[in-house]
Amino acid sequence: MWPQRVLLAALLLSLCAWTDARIKFQTPLQQVLSRQFTNAELAAHMRRFSTRCANISRLHTIGSSVRGEPLLALEISSSAGSEDAKPHFKCIANMHGDETGGRQLLLALAEWLCANYAVDAAARTVVTKTHLWLLPTMNPDGFAAGTRANANGVDLNRNFPDRFGSPPLALTGLEQPETLAVMNWTLSRQFTASANMHEGALVVNYPFDNTADGSSVYSKAQDDAALRYLAKVYANRNPQLKTSPVFPGGITNGAAWYNVNGGMQDWNYLKAGCFELTLELWEDKGGADLQVLFDNNLLSMLDLVLRSTLGGLRGKVRRQGTGAPLEAKIRVIGSTTMTTSTKKFGDFYRPLAPSATPYLVAVRLPGRTETRLFNVTIPASGAGVSLAVTFP
Ligand SMILES: *[C@@H]1O[C@H](CO)[C@@H](O)[C@H](O)[C@H]1NC(C)=O
Ligand SMILES: *[C@@H]1O[C@H](CO)[C@@H](O)[C@H](O)[C@H]1NC(C)=O
Ligand SMILES: *[C@@H]1O[C@H](CO)[C@@H](O)[C@H](O)[C@H]1NC(C)=O
Ligand SMILES: [Zn+2]
Repeated sequence: MWPQRVLLAALLLSLCAWTDARIKFQTPLQQVLSRQFTNAELAAHMRRFSTRCANISRLHTIGSSVRGEPLLALEISSSAGSEDAKPHFKCIANMHGDETGGRQLLLALAEWLCANYAVDAAARTVVTKTHLWLLPTMNPDGFAAGTRANANGVDLNRNFPDRFGSPPLALTGLEQPETLAVMNWTLSRQFTASANMHEGALVVNYPFDNTADGSSVYSKAQDDAALRYLAKVYANRNPQLKTSPVFPGGITNGAAWYNVNGGMQDWNYLKAGCFELTLELWEDKGGADLQVLFDNNLLSMLDLVLRSTLGGLRGKVRRQGTGAPLEAKIRVIGSTTMTTSTKKFGDFYRPLAPSATPYLVAVRLPGRTETRLFNVTIPASGAGVSLAVTFP
């Protein structure tokens, strides 16, 4: 009797150890795709990530929520934490507290980049040529409460200064701490493009999100072609979006679908010159199969980051002779109001759609009339065109 019991106990013990080892031997990528993290787990994971993958990342706090939860952003780059001429891209998830899959999706993207940047060409390009910022939750209070709105009951995607406000895009004083933090962060980094992840549908939505009279009709931004192109870049690599039975090609203009006043994407485009897309990535809110979500969106994310920042038009504006970086304004003639400014290092990035006919691009220095003109043709591949511009 006794020896049998010992045998059974030993067997049970080894089974437990085996199960335990299997959990322990999950890779970090498998861990983040295994379940939804609480706010505390999410923060702890991001802290650990920033030490485990220290030479490609830096953890930042961009502000805090109504209840004082930190808004944590991971910056992924071989030069994370330093200023240089590389373009910046940001991804925001969980702006609506009950749309939760994007939290784990952004952690998974970080893990995949950390695990693959030494062996995968796209991962290496993202890591070495850009600054990719990931904010897995913009609304940690809403997440904790299971609500769409933040702790003050405000829908954060109706809380940004609106283009039909008076004056247009002016602060109303009703902006929430989460909104102010994102605005501040956005303006401080000169992001080239961004993605905002939601749930409740399957579609890529691009600016504009509203019309003056609230009617649901196509509301064209000056850069409609570039925005539509980036939306397609995303949708084309996601099998569910690409074959959408509801939205042709898996994309829609925001206002053509329904009007959103005070939305984040229009503010980004108009106020920050940042080409933002709103990604609706799962039909039922909070119900995403995390592995499927990741499998369907990884290539889309990589393509969007690379085509929006390193595709299109980019360049450097410098002083003839000395090579000193210059502050300049870049305008694509025909795109009437949108101007791109050079950054600290005289560099600029501007998404443009491939086009058979050339774009006429004007570069000038503020307060000077002298203008440099260029005919720029973006090839069908979407590969970037780089300009070297000098002024005496
Ligand atoms: C990361 O650190 C390792 C070891 O110090 C180094 O060999 C590698 O080049 C670093 N990678 C990047 C992208 O900086
Ligand atoms: C805005 O960002 C700067 C750093 O870029 C930071 O010092 C400041 O506290 C931020 N303000 C708000 C309201 O978040
Ligand atoms: C751009 O192309 C047009 C049409 O070919 C030409 O007339 C114009 O001179 C070109 N401009 C520059 C700056 O090259
Ligand atoms: Zn949403």
